[in-house]
Amino acid sequence: MRTVYVNGEYLPENEAKVSIFDRGFLMADGVYEVTSVLDGKLIDFAGHAKRLERSLNELDMPHPAVLPDLLEVHRELVRLNGIEEGMIYLQITRGAPNDRDFVFPDPKTTTPTVVLFTQNKPGLADSPVAKKGIKVISIEDQRWARRDIKTVQLLFPSMGKMMAKAAGVDDAWMVEDGAVTEGTSNNAYIIKGNTIITRHLGNEILHGITRAAVLRFAKEAQMQVEERSFTIAEAQEADEAFITSASTFVMPVVEVDGVAVGSGAPGPVAARLREIYLEESRKMAV
Ligand code: PDD
Repeated sequence: MRTVYVNGEYLPENEAKVSIFDRGFLMADGVYEVTSVLDGKLIDFAGHAKRLERSLNELDMPHPAVLPDLLEVHRELVRLNGIEEGMIYLQITRGAPNDRDFVFPDPKTTTPTVVLFTQNKPGLADSPVAKKGIKVISIEDQRWARRDIKTVQLLFPSMGKMMAKAAGVDDAWMVEDGAVTEGTSNNAYIIKGNTIITRHLGNEILHGITRAAVLRFAKEAQMQVEERSFTIAEAQEADEAFITSASTFVMPVVEVDGVAVGSGAPGPVAARLREIYLEESRKMAV
């Protein structure tokens, strides 16, 4: 049984409780982060902590008192659960007033709810899926307009995953005004020659922590990076495609809407980027 963290306490998972009035439960009024663990250490913790703070600020959500100590809480959960490879999920909601109301509760009387738990995934880095690549379909992006905030409103991404599953593929790339925004829970990229193309930052996509690191490593490896929109047709004609996220790192995409990308097998650039990403982030893990 896992040991989880809830509002200052480390508890067995079946003893951890949150109120039925919690704003996360009633209104999806919460933000989250997923940080990966390799060799028992946290990957890019500082990046996740920074984005978390930004998400809280964008929603005028009070900062929980534990915010400065989150690294210690993450480490303690890794230790208590003996995680070598996996993820830490963190969620902060606006807390639980004692009723349902659209008006935000008074932060003096209602403090944020903070929950963290581990997900043990042995073999996460040496994933057999990364050697095969994944297939995606395109779907219309029907999420709200502030996708730069990492909120727990994940119903549409979850439906997108189910659409992909029903189509016999692994994931969906969401399209808005003819251009790809991102994957259901990852950022999307195509490669043409020596150029990596991924959508520019804005409110339309989540500013991936893995994205920032991968683009930095790509530039250091003398690859060209173009941050701009691209279409599904362009992806189908690309040499390679891939996604990034804290849980998949760099994952090749080998098919888009039934059309093979490049050779239809993971290409050398994505494979190399995955290698560099894993190697460099392991070195900087805390
Ligand atoms: N998802 N875009 C979306 C919509 C995401 O949900 C995620 C992450 C990303 C990649 O961000 P990062 O590189 O910081 O993980 C992009 C996490 C992993 C999840 O929901 O499980």
